[in-house]
Amino acid sequence: MDSVKQQIDQLRDELNRHNYDYYVLANPTISDYEFDQKMKALTELEEAHPDYFDPNSPTQRVGSDINKTFAQVRHEYPMLSLGNTYSREEVSEFYERVRKGLNTDFEMVCELKYDGVSISLIYTDGELTQAITRGDGVQGDDVTANVRTIRSIPLKLQGNDYPNRFEIRGEILMPWAVFDKLNEERAEQEEQLFANPRNACAGTLKQQDPKIVASRKLDSYLYYMLGEDLPADGHYENLMKAREWGFKISDATKKCKSLDEIFDFIDYWDAERKNLPVATDGIVLKVNSLLQQRNLGSTSKFPRWAISYKFQAEKALTRLLSVSYQVGRTGAVTPVANLEPVKLSGTTVRRASLYNEDYINQLDLHINDMVYVEKGGEIIPKITAVETSKRDLFNQKVYFIQNCPECGASLTKAEGEAIFYCPNDVHCPPQIKGKMEHFVTRKAMNIQCGPETIEQLYNAGFLHNVSDLYILYSKSSLIKKMEGWGERSLQILLDSINKSKEVPYERVLYALGIRYVGETVAKKLAKTYTNIDSLMAATYEELIEVEEIGGKIAQSIINHFEKEENRILIKQLKARGLQFELSEDIISQQTDKLKGLIIVISGTFEKHSRDEYKALIEQNGGKNSGSISSKTSYVLAGENMGPAKLEKANSLGIKIINEDEFLEMIQ
Ligand code: IVH
Repeated sequence: MDSVKQQIDQLRDELNRHNYDYYVLANPTISDYEFDQKMKALTELEEAHPDYFDPNSPTQRVGSDINKTFAQVRHEYPMLSLGNTYSREEVSEFYERVRKGLNTDFEMVCELKYDGVSISLIYTDGELTQAITRGDGVQGDDVTANVRTIRSIPLKLQGNDYPNRFEIRGEILMPWAVFDKLNEERAEQEEQLFANPRNACAGTLKQQDPKIVASRKLDSYLYYMLGEDLPADGHYENLMKAREWGFKISDATKKCKSLDEIFDFIDYWDAERKNLPVATDGIVLKVNSLLQQRNLGSTSKFPRWAISYKFQAEKALTRLLSVSYQVGRTGAVTPVANLEPVKLSGTTVRRASLYNEDYINQLDLHINDMVYVEKGGEIIPKITAVETSKRDLFNQKVYFIQNCPECGASLTKAEGEAIFYCPNDVHCPPQIKGKMEHFVTRKAMNIQCGPETIEQLYNAGFLHNVSDLYILYSKSSLIKKMEGWGERSLQILLDSINKSKEVPYERVLYALGIRYVGETVAKKLAKTYTNIDSLMAATYEELIEVEEIGGKIAQSIINHFEKEENRILIKQLKARGLQFELSEDIISQQTDKLKGLIIVISGTFEKHSRDEYKALIEQNGGKNSGSISSKTSYVLAGENMGPAKLEKANSLGIKIINEDEFLEMIQ
């Protein structure tokens, strides 16, 4: 074998090992910087020697080609689901049925029931060759390219005692933290929120672009192995082997010899599961011996050797009083249920999320219906079902409104989307106020003015759009007479408005509140279109050429600037003195010196402020991040760096640099 191939193989092995340490064991042994260096070296070697391409190389984790559609694949063994039980009695009955059916000693394995998306993984000669969704149980979608991006799923197995070919099944999950962050971002963009991590995970796995899947940081737990020559007759023993080969097997996997032990497991995890980073909704019981499993067999739907016990979701029954509709900054209309107040897990619930028209229709909701509300993992409770037996004949069906509740405009819904929008973005009051609220935020124009102030000044007729902020000083004598105002508070507001004229172009672009143009997109746009006129003149085709700008964002920008009112607003804001081009200084200072580096800033500094350091990092092509992880390349530390941060950086082996060292890097 030539030496290039040897180098490639060695790097692949090392990177696979580090991936495993980090994503399965949660115990990294090298810094992210070193990891990235190795990855870079491997990428370069692979690019120079395309003959050695391997779809299971760790370089392919970031996602490669875009799939157009998913191929349908037949499962070798049908993917059955499990019979559900909801009480201890039913669990005892199952145990008794197994005991009678086998008529000999047996062991039962208790596991957590993970609430994600089930997956079947095929390994051939120690390599992942196919990943198939459950589908209808007989055939599913081939999502191999997407699954390859999930770091806790081994692409190559460790050791050498695995069967030539076998299947392992498990669950793909979106951790709560990732789910919360994703929904936060979606809320900011007024996109449809995912109801729970399972839906978010399913939506992610169906993405056509594996790069998006890679960015969503999915996780996995594997819980069942199938094949001709498995290592042991015991399901538990096979899972322990799978753990040695590099799979993520839950620590909450226990062999039990009696019903009492099973109930102890259930009681323990019913409480403890709330501390897990992923969603679970019950316990799964499985007869351990595969031979005994075969003897018990299956019905057409469920195995007779396994069952699930579902944890009780805390729910309450209450009356639906009415449905109201909220209009957000981008015009998205969200239905909300107003309920007769009811106690649920320690709080009083008065409102519940209804998400969108489809959700209302699926529930077949009627006003005055008795409805079940549940607090799942979601923050806002949701209505999960209607108690139709209690429905009065005269209850009126809920139909989604057709006109904006605020301005009366006809609502619109894009093809294939679930959300209705009010198209009257220039004159609809909550949209105007919402846009102003966004405009003044710290990350945008940083104007000292909260939502109540905006409401007050809007109602008084002083603010019609954001450009009116800049002539507010002319209304000073009137404002001072209004409730809650004094000389000082007015001066603070006017000063911050004045100061906002210095806010750089990319933040002004973000402040405009163009749908889907968040902070990062605004920065990207400003770098490519260094003044607003060139951005306004850009075509759809040109926009989608920009890194990270897809069709949806491009179309939204085009739509925004097509509107006469928005073009006039830009003219007004220019006349008021706002920054609409990237300063010459910034353009000339832009470098690639920190390209690919993620830097965390901590403590206080002498030579520049934290914000200035943040800007310097970005100006030089690096990324600033708020928290230390194994992805961090450097911590830029000033005085008084917190001890917890210091310890974390040290434990992950991340290099800590001071002001001078940093400034030297960008010299
Ligand atoms: S075993 C024939 N074990 O629950 C046995 N399933 O209703 C097949 N699930 O589709 C499944 N955690 O998506 C098994 N520890 C676990 C599980 C589990 C979650 C899901 C799985 C399956 C569904 C069955």
